[in-house]
Amino acid sequence: MDLTFTEEQQMMRDMVQSFAKTEIEPFIPRMEAGEFPRDILKKMGGLGLMGITVPEEYGGAGMDFISYISAIHELSKVSAVVGVILSVHTSVGTNPIMYFGNDEQKNRYLPKLASGEYLGAFCLTEASSGSDAGSLKTRAVKKDDHYVLNGSKMFITNGGEADVYIVFASTGPSKGTYGISAFIVDKDTPGLVIGKDERKMGLHGSRTVELSFDQMKVPLENLLGEEGGGFKIAMANLDVGRIGIAAQALGIAEAALEAATGYAKDRVQFGKPIAAQQGVGFKLADMATAVEAAKLLVYRAAQLRAEGLPCGKEASMAKLFASKAAVEGSIEAVQVFGGYGYTEDYPVERYFRDAKVTEIYEGTSEIQRIVISKHLMK
Ligand code: CAA
Repeated sequence: MDLTFTEEQQMMRDMVQSFAKTEIEPFIPRMEAGEFPRDILKKMGGLGLMGITVPEEYGGAGMDFISYISAIHELSKVSAVVGVILSVHTSVGTNPIMYFGNDEQKNRYLPKLASGEYLGAFCLTEASSGSDAGSLKTRAVKKDDHYVLNGSKMFITNGGEADVYIVFASTGPSKGTYGISAFIVDKDTPGLVIGKDERKMGLHGSRTVELSFDQMKVPLENLLGEEGGGFKIAMANLDVGRIGIAAQALGIAEAALEAATGYAKDRVQFGKPIAAQQGVGFKLADMATAVEAAKLLVYRAAQLRAEGLPCGKEASMAKLFASKAAVEGSIEAVQVFGGYGYTEDYPVERYFRDAKVTEIYEGTSEIQRIVISKHLMK
């Protein structure tokens, strides 16, 4: 595997690093206070970051998947909030239309999603169907020139802020996963109700809401793919989406490592820097090893995807490993900082709060193991 970036990929990484430092970092206190980073997303749209992999004919940057993953990685080193907003917008908000939409749908939605005028969201999870996504209860009934949707969704990232929602609902309840269909829903559709805004442990500044559909009429032309083909659309996009979340976790793990290493080199106790005390030095060694391994898994999965090869197993491995590295690494970073690490004066407590959900959303770590083991049995 060649992990050397091309000149174009390096330019993307450098541009994102500098944008994150100058534009996003100063905004973190406002996001921690709960503000959604609208202005930042607008600027990202101007830089082409909201449509990195969207072809130029649809107004995107037309860049490769590795550039996209390096953008999520670098953004998440500074702000996991901006990282997840972009990952959800792209992998599961825009890509379903890019890969499964017809020409009319692509022309109507992709230019606006790619420019950042529109933000995307993905509505699969319900109160009683999280890991068991195929058991969703939202119903869609065909009537004349539209479908009528009734039901509700939970934990919708970007919900309430998004302009376009990819909604999964059952058009054939007796057919199980083969009865699930996907719809493109505009935010101003009558019957789309934005519900409770979740108060979360971390990722403050990202929005996570409940949604409900009350006799919501969706035009027939907004059916995405075939009727009954929705579950495969969800799964295929989650395969790719999971590489984005793995890159987000990698960014958090790397940020925790850099903060802990910097602090441990400066902090002197018992006459020498704590980094030189073996108890702390070993922690840093383990964290660095996990970050390096996560990086290899993330970019390996991204490379497969960039080459158009199957990557479901590798995406799940990358997410499983990188999310663990982020959680364990951020806990250790707090420990290295000691009492200071437990305060909001340093970023490590935020890394820990932000890291935990990477083991939960877009498939829990247990689901990643199911996916990996199913691949092994094939
Ligand atoms: N690509 C294409 N098709 C796939 C697929 C994939 N990756 N995985 C499964 N399928 C197909 C199967 O082939 C099967 O069709 P066939 O019978 O024709 O082969 C069909 O889908 C059903 O597959 P399974 O029997 O394997 O389905 P299952 O009900 O056992 O579920 C699961 C499999 C992997 C556990 C799945 O339910 C799953 O991924 N659950 C987790 C859901 C999840 O990740 N939710 C995240 C919500 S989104 C989110 O978090 C975004 C956010 O806000 C950050």
